[in-house]
Amino acid sequence: MGSFIEINDVSRLYYQGDNEIKALDHVSVNITKGEFVALMGPSGSGKTTLLNIIAGIDKQTSGRVTVDGRELGAMTEAELTTWRTRGMGYVFQFYNLIPVLTGYENVELPLLMLPMSKAERHDHVMAALEAVGIVEYSTHFPRQLSGGQEQRIAIARAIVTDATILVADEPTGNLDAESEIEIMELLKELNKNHDKTIIMVTHDASAAAYADRTTKLEKGRLTN
Ligand SMILES: Nc1ncnc2c1ncn2[C@@H]1O[C@H](COP(=O)(O)OP(=O)(O)O)[C@@H](O)[C@H]1O
Ligand SMILES: [Mg+2]
Repeated sequence: MGSFIEINDVSRLYYQGDNEIKALDHVSVNITKGEFVALMGPSGSGKTTLLNIIAGIDKQTSGRVTVDGRELGAMTEAELTTWRTRGMGYVFQFYNLIPVLTGYENVELPLLMLPMSKAERHDHVMAALEAVGIVEYSTHFPRQLSGGQEQRIAIARAIVTDATILVADEPTGNLDAESEIEIMELLKELNKNHDKTIIMVTHDASAAAYADRTTKLEKGRLTN
């Protein structure tokens, strides 16, 4: 099978005054459909930058990123917006739920950007909540949930548009050991049984062990 996500000689430079920061320095990596890849590396090595470029919320300075045969850099703003809302889901370390919305409403949020009836939205939200095993908490507000439950809601929000790619930036970085195992087992299940291609940043070898392979960044360069 050919590559699903192709990162081809990608560099991302940031400038602070006269100072040039190479957040990514000629990075090439291919990910096949259905793969679960862990991305490790010290703080500041470019991991979040790489996720953001794949997610279409940052742009490389040079190089090419192709997803499912489509080059992100060649997309119009409208196409990129569609990519961000339908193509991929983003899971964050601190969940990033809206505190004044219930679990259900947080999960529904991305669907409000799509042409969908309320009934269709309801079906999608319930399917996502079921997939992450947290239907009973749909009427709770984030402050009424544990970290692991908040992350489940956030994962439901990431899959609710049926995106095939999940990017996760230290999804267990704020969780206790028990919740970490639950969230990792959930991600693995979404990978195996719901065909999600997953790219997950982690500092934790036990989380990385759930992935099919681990790739390492150091100072903006892949080291393996
Ligand atoms: N918006 C930005 N402006 C300037 N420098 C940035 C910006 N975003 C990231 N960087 C720098 O790029 C490098 C990589 O950052 P990042 O991708 O966040 O690393 P990681 O996620 O591995 O900790 C760091 O040196 C960081 O300070
Ligand atoms: Mg980071």
